[in-house]
Amino acid sequence: MAQSSRANRKVLVLPGDGIGPEIMREVMRLFEFFDRRNIARFDVGEGLVGGAAYEASGVPLTDDTLAEAMASDAVLFGSVGGPKWEALPFELRPERGLLRLRKEMDLFANLRPAVVFDALADASALKRDLVAGLDLMIVRELTGGIYFGEPRGVETMPDGTRRGINTEIYTEAEIERVLRAGFDLAVKRQRRLCEVAMKRQRRLCEVDKANVMESGGLWREVAERVHADYPQVELSFMYADNCAMQLVRNPKQFDVIVTSNLFGDILSDCAAMLTGSLGMLPSASLGAADAAGRRKALYEPVHGSAPDIAGKNLANPLACVLSFAMMLRYSFDLADEASLVEDAVRRALAAGVRTADILQPNTARVSTRVMGDTILRELEKVA
Ligand code: IPM
Ligand code: MG
Repeated sequence: MAQSSRANRKVLVLPGDGIGPEIMREVMRLFEFFDRRNIARFDVGEGLVGGAAYEASGVPLTDDTLAEAMASDAVLFGSVGGPKWEALPFELRPERGLLRLRKEMDLFANLRPAVVFDALADASALKRDLVAGLDLMIVRELTGGIYFGEPRGVETMPDGTRRGINTEIYTEAEIERVLRAGFDLAVKRQRRLCEVAMKRQRRLCEVDKANVMESGGLWREVAERVHADYPQVELSFMYADNCAMQLVRNPKQFDVIVTSNLFGDILSDCAAMLTGSLGMLPSASLGAADAAGRRKALYEPVHGSAPDIAGKNLANPLACVLSFAMMLRYSFDLADEASLVEDAVRRALAAGVRTADILQPNTARVSTRVMGDTILRELEKVA
């Protein structure tokens, strides 16, 4: 294979805290598998982030690690945070390590797919027919809005009482680039075969609170304008509260959802639950393409660090495994190889292998490590 000799795919692995290190350990075996089978080589480095970085160096992300991340083609991120660090000042909390990476790498487009694997359709809190075959993508703006807007803070007023301030602020350029990422994705997204057969049109739904927020009105205007470049995609608008409701009422009406940082945070948790397990969901955070078409990128499972089960070999490594697959697809143009990994996951689930979080009647409960073994075994079969 032409690609196998290219070892210039630089990946920085940041396992982080809680279950991060043990799920990442299973993903490291995938790098090793691709290498051993001569499918693709990667130059893999490892670093500290979150509480782990704080313990080692007093900050949740060092400048050196940030520089390494900036120099990598992709960052593979585990999870950060835990009770041990909750009392720290805001700037030293583990989560700040992640936010700093997102901001400094300018990873403005956060892709959060909600895909229901057939074998898990019954694990959803919703009825099977509402979610079976679900395949939607939330594109969340990740470097702007109320998460970063100024002014912010808590201030004391003349009468001695205090007020808290955060600001939702978006420039047209920020809105436009994330919408373009969403439209591009809507065009490119591989749909399930049955939908292709039904010739279903690509759809993009822009979600905001334009009924109460001026910035939301601006999102709509920009969306209309950008839409002119994507006539093949059907554009619709929805208020965020209605979207939360529609996601649990009839999630299959959605294809690609594009929304602001805060609404995307909330709606993606909601969409995650539709799939039956947060432990299954990967994500990609992408920057702008440079002249060579390369984007800075960070891949991470949507679930958190789950300190209650950390170190017990109980965690579900599949979200991290699927994040690895997204990395293959979006950073290295290895779509076939990504499909191999996703197939291996599908086959492991179909064989009834389950970690505790997705356990169902008549399935076998396995550890993190055994799930990793199973994925590797299935990969051997399909690769
Ligand atoms: C997420 C998380 C983060 C966020 C936290 C950990 C800062 O909830 O990635 O959805 O709010 O963006
Ligand atoms: Mg969140």
